[in-house]
Amino acid sequence: MPDPRTQASAAGPAPDPRLSVERAADLGEEDLHALAEAATAAILDGGGFGWLAPPGRGELERYFRGVLLVPERELYVGRMDGAIVAAAQLVRPPRNNEAQAFAAWFMHAFTAPYARGHGVARLVLERVEEGARARGYQILNLDVRETQHAAIALYESLGFLRWGTHPAYARVDGRTLAGHYYYKLLQPRGRAS
Ligand SMILES: CC(C)(COP(=O)(O)OP(=O)(O)OC[C@H]1O[C@@H](n2cnc3c(N)ncnc32)[C@H](O)[C@@H]1OP(=O)(O)O)[C@@H](O)C(=O)NCCC(=O)NCCS
Repeated sequence: MPDPRTQASAAGPAPDPRLSVERAADLGEEDLHALAEAATAAILDGGGFGWLAPPGRGELERYFRGVLLVPERELYVGRMDGAIVAAAQLVRPPRNNEAQAFAAWFMHAFTAPYARGHGVARLVLERVEEGARARGYQILNLDVRETQHAAIALYESLGFLRWGTHPAYARVDGRTLAGHYYYKLLQPRGRAS
């Protein structure tokens, strides 16, 4: 069974030793506060997994508590010096969706602006991929607004392939934005199409 905390990246330079990533099965009060704080800062900065304005710490804490209860969702958190500064979700297909049972989604990724540029999002995504692979998923899907350039660079650097663009993907400040759709083959020897 893989170590739930990942300290090492599969490729590239050694990660910052202050970073760690884990799948969160439960979160204490301190962790929930830090997660809500990180999410609020990311939303204020313009990249908050759909929210355009922060809904308030209490609502974000309830949101993350709810995520932990959804059977198809796995919450991964990235820490710097022990404090949560990043998160993302692995979303598995519902049981009725047998036709797409081989594919999972990477969603709702963010790093708090005060912790960016240290490699935590890369570690989170690698850990989510590892989790999806371990569960036997052959494909990891994701989508991203055209304006999220850092995220796009991250996904492409990790081998995600852009297969399409939705011209009316999101509406931000009255502007309609396109969004890009990506996938990655997790088990190259499996049949994916
Ligand atoms: C995208 C995001 C999660 C990256 O977080 P991060 O922890 O700073 O990223 P990392 O330090 O792990 O960087 C990983 C890679 O992302 C890319 N990247 C990160 N910041 C970047 C920037 N400012 N410009 C261009 N590429 C960037 C690079 O490819 C980088 O790899 P490198 O350091 O080897 O060059 C963060 O910028 C964020 O939260 N953005 C707003 C929310 C968002 O876009 N979420 C994704 C929605 S699908």
